[in-house]
Amino acid sequence: MMNEKQLAAEKSIDYIKDGITLGLGTGSTVFFLVNKLAELVKHGLDVKCVSTSYQTSELAKNLGINTMQLNEVDYIDLTIDGADEVDRKLNGIKGGGGALLFEKIVATESKKVIWIVDSSKFVKKLGRFPLPVEVIPLAANHIIKRFKESGYNPIIRMNESKNYLTDSGNEIIDLHLHEIEDSIKLEQDIKLIPGVVEVG
Ligand code: 5RP
Repeated sequence: MMNEKQLAAEKSIDYIKDGITLGLGTGSTVFFLVNKLAELVKHGLDVKCVSTSYQTSELAKNLGINTMQLNEVDYIDLTIDGADEVDRKLNGIKGGGGALLFEKIVATESKKVIWIVDSSKFVKKLGRFPLPVEVIPLAANHIIKRFKESGYNPIIRMNESKNYLTDSGNEIIDLHLHEIEDSIKLEQDIKLIPGVVEVG
């Protein structure tokens, strides 16, 4: 039986029209999308894809999907991506898979963005899922100190015994906030700190 992630992912295929430039997100939900898309491509669907991570690029290329660099396309018609948490106003948290920077760039250059999420991702208030902040490694300890002072409960993301590195060679600090009152203001405040690259 299909799980909710797969159902959501495969439903989003309905929005992919022949000839479009498509942004592909990252994560286990997008995995189902890319696999289904590959079937359609084999049957003649013509799409140019821009990926949001090394992980998705490799998957797409191995399945025979035409992938391009963001700088090689003029615009993206539609991006389909997952999300870690979504509230009723469709504010969300992204970056659980570490691809927040490219995901936000690709989404910003897209005419339309669809998030494919299962029911476990819906929350009344954002913050149960730790908020990822991508930072320049040189500044990480100082930014962690600032976050501690602000009561944000920061934890540096690890990959086994080493600090996790994004596709851009940056580190991620996950903020265990539990509840976010004003997500827009929080994002703006965090982005003002030098060394912060992006907020999920
Ligand atoms: C990656 C992301 C993903 O979209 C998010 O983590 C959801 O992942 P999944 O589909 O595996 O639940 O933001 O940076």
